[in-house]
Amino acid sequence: MKINEKEFFHQATIRICGSLEIDHSLKNCFLYLKDYIPIEEIWMGLLEKEFSNIRAIAHADNAGSKTMDTIIPLPRILNDEQREQGLKPKRVMIINRMAAHRLSDTVAFPKSSVMIFPLLPEGDRMGVLVLRAEGQNRYSNTHAKLLSMLHDPFVVAMSNNLRHDEVLKLKDMLADDNRYLSRELRQLAGDEIVGAETGLKNVMDMVQQVAPRDNPVLLLGETGVGKEVIANAIHYASPRKNGPFIKVNSGAIPEGLIDSELFGHEKGAFTGAVSQKRGRFERAHGGTIFLDEIGDLPMQAQVRLLRVIQQKEMERVGGTETIEVDVRIITATHRNLEKLMGKNKFREDLWYRLNVFPIIIPPLRQRKTDIPLLIEHFLKRKSRELNFRSIPKIVPGNIERLIDYPWKGNVRELENMVERALIQYNGGLLNFDHFVFPQSDKLPTNTIASGKMLKLDEVCVRHIQSALEAARGRINGPYGAAELLGLLPSTLRGRMNKLGIIYGRKKQTG
Ligand SMILES: Nc1ncnc2c1ncn2[C@@H]1O[C@H](COP(=O)(O)OP(=O)(O)OP(=O)(O)O)[C@@H](O)[C@H]1O
Ligand SMILES: [Mg+2]
Repeated sequence: MKINEKEFFHQATIRICGSLEIDHSLKNCFLYLKDYIPIEEIWMGLLEKEFSNIRAIAHADNAGSKTMDTIIPLPRILNDEQREQGLKPKRVMIINRMAAHRLSDTVAFPKSSVMIFPLLPEGDRMGVLVLRAEGQNRYSNTHAKLLSMLHDPFVVAMSNNLRHDEVLKLKDMLADDNRYLSRELRQLAGDEIVGAETGLKNVMDMVQQVAPRDNPVLLLGETGVGKEVIANAIHYASPRKNGPFIKVNSGAIPEGLIDSELFGHEKGAFTGAVSQKRGRFERAHGGTIFLDEIGDLPMQAQVRLLRVIQQKEMERVGGTETIEVDVRIITATHRNLEKLMGKNKFREDLWYRLNVFPIIIPPLRQRKTDIPLLIEHFLKRKSRELNFRSIPKIVPGNIERLIDYPWKGNVRELENMVERALIQYNGGLLNFDHFVFPQSDKLPTNTIASGKMLKLDEVCVRHIQSALEAARGRINGPYGAAELLGLLPSTLRGRMNKLGIIYGRKKQTG
C-alpha cells in the first residue's frame, strides 16, 4: 500500500492531540494506526530511572481504552543484549520474536512482536509508547518509520496530559485546603464570644439585627476590644456564611499597593504587574469583606470603595472591563473618622455610606463583669494549647486587682497577659500581678535601668509584704503567704523576724 505520508501525519496528529483525556486520544489514534501498522494493543507510559520499568499511564485496544498506573518491568520485554543496546529517544526498537510473557499481574503477552518508541525527554521524564502485534516478525522498518514520524505529536499529547493531570491534582488539593480552611474559620467563628450575655449583650443584639441584611457595618472601638471577633460573628450569622470571609488590614498594606490588593490589576498595569491578579473584592464575591483600619485607606482607594458600595461594580487597576461584585462590607477603625474628615483625610460621602449601622464595642474597663470570664476563658484555652494537665488556680485577691486594672490594650492585653503568665508558670498558684503591674512599687524590677538600685533586703521586704497583702495577712494554710512564696511557714516567720517585718498580732498591737 502506498501511503501518503503527509496525510498520515495530519490525520494521526489530529487524533493524538485531539483531547486532554489521554485514553480518548490513544483510542482514536489506535483506531487510525491499525490500518497502517499491525497492532493489537498500545500503551503509553513513562520510562522510569535507568530504564528499569515502564510506568504505563494509558492503554488502548479493540475493546476500548483506559487510564492506568501500572508498572511493567522492562527486563521482561527486552533481553540483555537489547537492553545493552539501550533505548534511545526518538528511535523505534523492533522486537520481532517475543515469547509469551506475563508482564505484570494485569498484563500478559502471547507470542508477539513489539515496537518500543521512547520519546524525547520532557523535563526529567521520558515518555514511551509500546505497540504489540500478535505473532512473530510482524514489524518492518516501514512500520518503524511511520511510527517515528509521530514523535512530536505524541510528546505534545503526553506533556499536555501530564500537565493537565497536575492541574487537576492541584485543583483537588486547593478544594481540599479550602474545605479545611473554611472549617477552621467556622470553628474560630463558632468560638465562644465571652461576654455575649453580659458586657457585650447590646453589641450582640445589634449583631443579630444586622447580620441578615446586606448593608455595610462600621465597627468602632479601641484597639483589642474584639472588632474582628464581631466582624466574624456578623458574617457567620448572615446568609452569606457559606461564602468567603475576606479580611484586609488597610494599615498593613503599603499605600502604593492597596488599590491593586483590593481591586486587582491587569497584566502590565504598572511595573511589576507581570500577570493579571484578582483583588480581594473579587475573591469576596458572594461573601463578606472585612476592611480593618479603614481610617488608613488612601484617598484613591476610598474613591473606588465608594463606587463598589454605590454601584456594586469595579474595574481592576489598569483594566477597562467592569466587574460586578456582590459583597457585604464590614469596616472597622479605632480612629476618629470625623476628625480625619475634618483634615480631609477621609471622604465625607464614604463615611455616610459606611456609617449606616455603627456598632460601638465598649472598652474592657467599661464591662468589668467580663474580665473574670475572659481570664477563665483564656486560662482554659491556653492551658490546653500548652498541654497543661490541669488548669492552674489563681492567687486569691488577684482577680479583684485585675478587675480594677485599666486594660488599655483591652481583651488582647488580657489574653497576652494570661499567655505570658502560663508560659512562665512553674507550679503552685498563678499570680498575674507582675505581668500587669511590672513597675509596681511593691516589687520594682527595673530599678537597675532607672538607676535607683534597691538593696536586696529591701526587695525581699517589699515582696513578702505584697504576698502578705495578697494572702490577707495569713501566713499558714492554702493561699497563705508562705505557700505563695513557696516557703515553709516557719521559714517565712524566721525571715520576717530577721528583716524586721511586723506581722500578725504584733502588727495589730504595735
Ligand atoms: N469577646 C471575646 N471573647 C473571646 N475572645 C475575644 C473577645 N474579644 C476579643 N477576643 C480576643 O482578643 C484578641 C483581640 O481581638 P480582635 O483582634 O478582634 O480585636 P480588634 O478590636 O480587632 O483589635 P485591633 O484594633 O488591634 O485590630 C483576639 O485574640 C480575640 O480572639
Ligand atoms: Mg483588628
